[in-house]
Amino acid sequence: MNLMNPQDRLIFALDVPGKKEAEHYAKMLEGVVGCFKIGLELFISEGPDIVKMIQDRSAANIFLDLKLHDIPATVRGALRSAEKLGVQYITIHSTEGEAILETAQEVKGSGLEVLAVTVLTSTSASSLASLGIREDIDAAALVLDRATRAQNSGCAGVVCSGEEAKLVKLKCGEEFKIIVPGIRPQWARVSGDDQNRIATPFQAIEDGADMIVVGRPIRDAGDPREAAQKIIEEIS
Ligand code: C5P
Repeated sequence: MNLMNPQDRLIFALDVPGKKEAEHYAKMLEGVVGCFKIGLELFISEGPDIVKMIQDRSAANIFLDLKLHDIPATVRGALRSAEKLGVQYITIHSTEGEAILETAQEVKGSGLEVLAVTVLTSTSASSLASLGIREDIDAAALVLDRATRAQNSGCAGVVCSGEEAKLVKLKCGEEFKIIVPGIRPQWARVSGDDQNRIATPFQAIEDGADMIVVGRPIRDAGDPREAAQKIIEEIS
């Protein structure tokens, strides 16, 4: 990733049901996005072959967004398997604390970077109490605490909302990567949107995001390639 190149800072979420659709978007967006994110929907339906398909067709990085959440031995095993696939990024959950975050050390130096999911961008600030989080702890404090633990445990970075990016950058420094989903350009219309803590591409980058994840605003645009290009201009 070269932060000077705006295209390298755009991750497209390949949130599609199968290989045919994934191939369509990989072809259409080749040379425009720096990274393709494969999530649960696509990986469960197509398995590791989908990684190979993208690698064969594209020079972009691959982000395996499986949000691993299990006992440490199982997560370590999953990370070793992901390392063999030759992907650049994978996500683990941070809610269980250091025991799971430290599994990142299993693949340190291998080229696979482990990113910790802090608080999902679909989680609203008002729903934290109902999740058992103490009322005096807001989303920003929770994200900051989890980001610090992730950094101390050997993770390469975190996934957080644009609202917390600035705080995490200040606390964790330049080297620790910040990936921001929940991106909504001003022109984007997403029907039935489930994202709550959202930011525009400009705001997220301005606040310290190293990379932004964009799914539906590109996928569902009339011209996805043009939408991606518009976002790159905004990043620039
Ligand atoms: O379509 P949209 O732009 O909302 O897509 C966001 C993508 O980012 C989805 O693939 C979602 O799984 C992912 N993501 C997220 N919030 C997180 C972590 C990942 O929205 N905290």
